[in-house]
Amino acid sequence: HVRDVTGCHVLPGLIDSHVHFRTPGLTHKEDWPHGSRAAAAGGVTTVIDMPNTQPPLLDPAKVSERAELVAGRSLVDFRFHLGTSPETLDRLKALTPQDATSVKIFMAGHHTAPNVLRSPSDLRRAFEFAAGQSVLLVLHAEADAVFALLDAAGAPPAQYRDYERARPRSGGIVAVTQVIELVQRYGTHAHILHVSSAEEVQLLIAARRSGLPISFELTGHHLSFTAADSARQGARLRLSPSIRSAEDQEALWAALLSGEAGTLGSDHAPHTVEEKTRGVAQAPPGIPGVQELATAVFTGMRRRQPEAPADRHLVLLAEHLARRPAELFGLAHRKGSIVPGLDADLVVFDADRPWMVTAADLHTKAGWSAYEGWTMAGRVLATVRRGEVIWDQAEGRFGSPVGVLLNPDCP
Ligand code: DOR
Ligand code: ZN
Ligand code: ZN
Repeated sequence: HVRDVTGCHVLPGLIDSHVHFRTPGLTHKEDWPHGSRAAAAGGVTTVIDMPNTQPPLLDPAKVSERAELVAGRSLVDFRFHLGTSPETLDRLKALTPQDATSVKIFMAGHHTAPNVLRSPSDLRRAFEFAAGQSVLLVLHAEADAVFALLDAAGAPPAQYRDYERARPRSGGIVAVTQVIELVQRYGTHAHILHVSSAEEVQLLIAARRSGLPISFELTGHHLSFTAADSARQGARLRLSPSIRSAEDQEALWAALLSGEAGTLGSDHAPHTVEEKTRGVAQAPPGIPGVQELATAVFTGMRRRQPEAPADRHLVLLAEHLARRPAELFGLAHRKGSIVPGLDADLVVFDADRPWMVTAADLHTKAGWSAYEGWTMAGRVLATVRRGEVIWDQAEGRFGSPVGVLLNPDCP
C-alpha cells in the first residue's frame, strides 16, 4: 500500500505518559486492545499506564506479571507507573528504574484509587525514599482535608457548584503547596499531573524558576473545556481535578504556548456510558482522551494563534508529547538517543485537514467522547511503531498488537 502524503508533516511517535487502560479488574471500562488502538489512531506509539487497577499495582515485584497481561494485546509500546499506599511504602526501597518509570501518588481519595497517601508523615517518607533512590514521583495533587471541610459546610448544589464541591480549586492549591515544600525539603524530583488552575500554574512556574526539580503536566481536557462545557455535558465532563473557568484555562494555555509547562498527557480514564448517565453526583470522574489528545491540542493552538505557522504548533506538540516525556521518564535511554522517533516511531499528520469527530471514529472500549461534534483542525493519517504501520487512516486499518515493555536496559 502506497500513500501519497505530500504536504503532510512527519512527527516523532507521541508518548502519552498518563493513561488508565484498566487492566486487570476494570476491563468493562477499557482494555489494552481497544486503548492501544485508540492510542495508535491518535498518533501515540508509547503509553505509560497508571496503577489504579483492581488490584492496584503497588509492588515492584509485580510489574513483570502486569507486563505479561499486556504482552500480545497492545499495539503500542508501554511502561508503568507504580502505585503506593501507607501499607506498601516500604516496598519502594526495592524499586529499580527497570520496574517502573516513576511512582504515582494519589493525595486524594478516588473510587478507582483507594490507595491514598494523605498523612504528612507518609508523604514525608515517600519523598525521602524517592529522593534517596532518584525515583521520579508523579502526583495527583488534591487535598482530601479540604473536601471534608467543604462537605461539612454543606455547600449548595447548583450543577456547576457540584463540580467545585467534589474537587474545589483550593484542594489543588493546598496540595501543590505541600508538594513544593516537600521537594524543597528532600530534593525529590516531582511531576504534578493534570494541573487545572491558574494559581497552581503560578506556584509551579515560580518553584521551577527557583531551581527546584519540579515539573507539571497539562491534559487535553483541561485545555479544551471550561466550566461552561461541564455544565452542558454534565456527568460526562465530571473529572478529577474538575474542569475550571475560562480564566484558568487561559493560564494553562499561556504556560503551554510559552513552553513553561512540562508535558502533555491525556489522563485517558474511560468509564462506561451507563456509569456516566448516573447523574453528576454519582458518575465516576474521568474521560477517554488518548485518541483525541494531540489533535484537540493542535486545534486549540490553531484557534488561539491562527496567524502562527502550523510548524510552530507541531514543534510544540513534539516537544511536549515526545522529547520531554522521553527525557523525564527515561525512555530516551532505550532509544539510545534523546531524539525520540529514531527507532522509526513516527506519525504522519495532515495539519490542514478539518474533520468532525463522531462516535464512529472512536476506538476506546467506552465508545464515547466528550469531543464528539468537535471539528478538529488536523488529522493523524498514519502511525508507525518501530517501522510497522499500526494505523492507516485512509483504510481505517490497524497493525498487529506487538507493543513491547520498554526497558531502559534494552539495546
Ligand atoms: O478523573 C479522574 N479519573 N481522575 C483520576 O485521578 C482518576 C481517573 C480514573 O481512574 O477514573
Ligand atoms: Zn489523577
Ligand atoms: Zn489519571
